Amino acid sequence: MPTLKLLLLPGDGIGPEVMAEAKHVLAWLEARGLASFAIEEDLVGGSAYDAHGKSISEAAMAKALAADAVLFGAVGGPKWDKVPYDARPEAGLLRLRKDLGLFANLRPAICYPALADASSLKRELVEGLDIMIVRELTGGVYFGEPKTITDLGNGQKRAVDTQVYDTYEIERIARVAFDLARKRRNKVTSSEKRNVMKSGVLWHEVVTQVHAREYKDVQLEHLLADACGMQLVRQPKQFDVIVTDNLFGDMLSDVAAMLTGSLGMLPSASLGEVDAKTKKRRALYEPVHGAAPDIAGKGLANPIAMIGSLGMALRYSFGMIKEADLIDRAIAAALDRGLRTADIRGQAQRTIGTTEMGEAIRAELDRLAV
Ligand code: IPM
Ligand code: MN
Repeated sequence: MPTLKLLLLPGDGIGPEVMAEAKHVLAWLEARGLASFAIEEDLVGGSAYDAHGKSISEAAMAKALAADAVLFGAVGGPKWDKVPYDARPEAGLLRLRKDLGLFANLRPAICYPALADASSLKRELVEGLDIMIVRELTGGVYFGEPKTITDLGNGQKRAVDTQVYDTYEIERIARVAFDLARKRRNKVTSSEKRNVMKSGVLWHEVVTQVHAREYKDVQLEHLLADACGMQLVRQPKQFDVIVTDNLFGDMLSDVAAMLTGSLGMLPSASLGEVDAKTKKRRALYEPVHGAAPDIAGKGLANPIAMIGSLGMALRYSFGMIKEADLIDRAIAAALDRGLRTADIRGQAQRTIGTTEMGEAIRAELDRLAV
């Protein structure tokens, strides 16, 4: 059995609490003889800033580059509101994405049957929902230059962010979306703002060409990003795979997440290019929810998105499909038993904390693995 090199970056806020539950699942997999891990751990975000004065140290970056996969918790919090922009907690995450070349961000939004009533939409609109948002992650306005605030000298300042995409960046993310669609319901919705943005015009053109050249068998539709947001809350089940840029993907995936009942439910995978020689790809797995400083340290956080992210690591980095399915089924089973953390509580349900939810999922793993 190969030893899989994992770097854990719990980060800030609820990150360490939910990561603790992922660690228990790693230990469970090892104890069952299903996998063998070489695990390292380091700081990122505000906690790294407190220790080193920057949001990720060079040593931690080196570990990330050497790992088969990175499991990431969350970064940020009001404590670091005043730190210099380049050292803010989020900069650590953005550097990981950029330096590891993690251009493809997969954000599945699945509504577990047991949670259909926790959604802000009616049950019939979200029951059985299963969409995959494919967000471009290393380009666009997040990284485009110039990115500046200039003092105009007349009491005014000017802020500039740059939205920029090259053909190859759009081609490779489109391929990820089409390939995924082929294994799902064979439909891709591409979303941009070509009615106001040149990058949207190019996005539309390139996706259309890639489709015509390589993926004629997949159904492709184009939807302006504002309309896509509207359709996501109007009739979310019309979607299969949505492919979109970095900023629209950030927003649309938060919207999609909430359809499933809670932001605490959504895992994500950030993947790099497949290396032609080794056939491996760099990867980072993280819950979408963020650091949630308001509930940090209270043992209230929902660990499902973090455990689901570990499941995605097994699926996309290690080819452990059976074990990944097992984790998904254990999560669903714990929910079916009526167990809820505060974020997904329905009416009159007793809520449990982070560790109890972790234990419940492991109990289901024990039960399902026989
Ligand atoms: C996300 C987060 C990040 C983003 C932040 C923390 C930089 O919101 O992963 O969705 O904007 O990409
Ligand atoms: Mn976000």
